Amino acid sequence: MDENDKIVEEAEEAASKARDSRSLYETKLKFLGREGRLATLMKRMKELAAAQRPVFGKQVNALRERLEVMFAEHEERMKREELMNKLAAERVDVTMPGKRHSEGALHPVTRVKNELIDIFSGMGFEVFEGPEIESDYYNFTALNTPADHPARDMQDTFYLTDEFLLRTQTSAGQIRLMERKKPPIKMLSPGRVFRSDDDATHSPMFHQMEGLVVDKGITLCDLQGMLDKFVEAMFSKTSRTRLRPSYFPFTEPSVEVDVSCYICGGKGCPLCKGTGWIEVLGAGMVNRRVLENCGVDPDVYTGFAFGMGIERIAMLKYGINNIKLLTENDVRFLDQFKN
Ligand code: DAH
Repeated sequence: MDENDKIVEEAEEAASKARDSRSLYETKLKFLGREGRLATLMKRMKELAAAQRPVFGKQVNALRERLEVMFAEHEERMKREELMNKLAAERVDVTMPGKRHSEGALHPVTRVKNELIDIFSGMGFEVFEGPEIESDYYNFTALNTPADHPARDMQDTFYLTDEFLLRTQTSAGQIRLMERKKPPIKMLSPGRVFRSDDDATHSPMFHQMEGLVVDKGITLCDLQGMLDKFVEAMFSKTSRTRLRPSYFPFTEPSVEVDVSCYICGGKGCPLCKGTGWIEVLGAGMVNRRVLENCGVDPDVYTGFAFGMGIERIAMLKYGINNIKLLTENDVRFLDQFKN
């Protein structure tokens, strides 16, 4: 019995010295493991006389029980200590102010572009994107604007070589699509265009949205009906359109399209410069020469086309007075377009 007390005392001392669960476990093995002190004691059983063995067995079992209880207590203590240490190490100050993550938003040009695509795809238009580097042929010649044509002066062009240029208009997409697809056609072509032009309402790079409809029996009335639907969706339910005669080489007749001023409703205000109308896009019936250039028979098919500046629509819609604001990307400006 004395020896039992001694062993327990020794184990107790070793267990109290253990600094973590691992060393506590190793200590426990030294006493209760397969090669531990207790196992060694049991081996002594063989040396004893048969009569002494049950007494000895009982004592060893009593010792095992005491050791197990003692180690269980230490394990419990160790677990608690380790948890406390972990909590202390991972302490979080819940009163600390959080980090703000400011959320981004779509650029107004992207918003308007998406809105345009939404409105026109609802009317059955499909999106086609042409290249930004164009050949002179697609940007001008095929659009009934040959080299010496005075209309080339309407657009100051960035030429890359004699043949290639940065497209000045998304109208080039009309030709590319008609070469690929036979009518009926309902195409919408958004994209960047480039012109050597720079002031409060002009930027050397801006975005356009081109539209093209070609089928049998298309008339100017179809164009105006579609435009009315468009301005209702884009500006306001009461918005109306007005067509003014104009000139573009690729349309005949050509029109300039005005929308009734959505600020004053047509009475006249600073936005519409007192006229009640705001110019929003160019359009017209596709010139038969253009159809011919694409192998479409103008005696069978007719069509209308339109083109608008996306920045211009965005400026009108959001009351932006300088186009530069749309490329400077000042966050204080862009922040205002969060929903
Ligand atoms: N491409 C013309 C421009 O950039 C805009 C335009 C006018 C496009 C009439 C058209 C159209 O499709 O029919 O000024």
